[in-house]
Amino acid sequence: MRRPILAGNWKMYKNITETCAFFEKFKPLVATSTHCDIVICPTFVNLQAAVEATRDTTIDIGGQNLFWEKEGAYTGEISGPMLKAVGCKWVLVAHSERRQYFGETNEDARKKIVAALDAGLTPIYCIGEKLDERQAERTHEVLETQFHGGTARLTMEQFSRIVIAYEPCWAIGTGKVATPEMAADAHRYIREQVRKSFSPEAASACRILYGGSVKPDNIRGLMAQPEIDGGLVGGASLDPVSFASIVNF
Ligand code: 13P
Repeated sequence: MRRPILAGNWKMYKNITETCAFFEKFKPLVATSTHCDIVICPTFVNLQAAVEATRDTTIDIGGQNLFWEKEGAYTGEISGPMLKAVGCKWVLVAHSERRQYFGETNEDARKKIVAALDAGLTPIYCIGEKLDERQAERTHEVLETQFHGGTARLTMEQFSRIVIAYEPCWAIGTGKVATPEMAADAHRYIREQVRKSFSPEAASACRILYGGSVKPDNIRGLMAQPEIDGGLVGGASLDPVSFASIVNF
C-alpha cells in the first residue's frame, strides 16, 4: 500500500504573521490525521517559523525550490543542506511555474533532484503538459520527456526516495480540475515510465500526486482512483479549514 501524501504549495503567499496564524488553526484540525503524510511548503523566509509552529506534530515542512550546489557565489539561491538544516524534510522540484517563469529545464530538475537526495530531503518532482500540448495530443510525449529527463541516471536506491507530482499546467489555478479518469490515465502512463526505467517494484512503490485545482469538493473523487496517491494543492492549501478537509478527505 502506498501511503497518501497531501501537500500544500503556498507559492508566493503569506507573510510570517499569516504563516503562524495558519498553523494555529490548522494543527487541531489534523491532530488525529495519521492516514497520510501532511506537508506544507511555505516561502523560504517563513520556513523557520513553520518548522517551529509544527514541532511535535506530524506536519512536515518543505521548500518550494533549491539550487543544486551546496554553497557558493550564487546570489539569491538556497541549497539542499540549508533547507535540511532549517528543518525541512521535503522540497518541490521543477514546479511548472519554475519552468514557465524561471526557465528551469529537465536537466536543471535532474541536478536539483540529486542535490535534494544528497541533502536527505525528499524531492517532489513536478511534471505536466500545457494546454496546447494536451490539445495536440502530446501529453504522453511531454510526460515521457520530462520524466526521463529529470530522473536520468538515478540509481534504483535514489529513485526509491523521490515522489512525482503530475500537474497539468491548464489545471493550475484555473479551477479546471482534470477529471479523475484523465489524471489516472496520466499517472498510469508515468508509472509505466518508472517500470521501463527502473523496475516493476519501483513502479508499484512510486507515489504519484495529482495537482491542479484540487479542492475539498473534488479530492474524494481523485483519491478514489487507485493510481492517485495524493494531492499537491495550491490555492486551497492557504486556508486551514479548506486544507484540513482535503487532508481528511
Ligand atoms: P492550484 O491548486 O491553485 O490549482 O495550484 C496547483 C499547484 O500548482 C500546486 O503546486
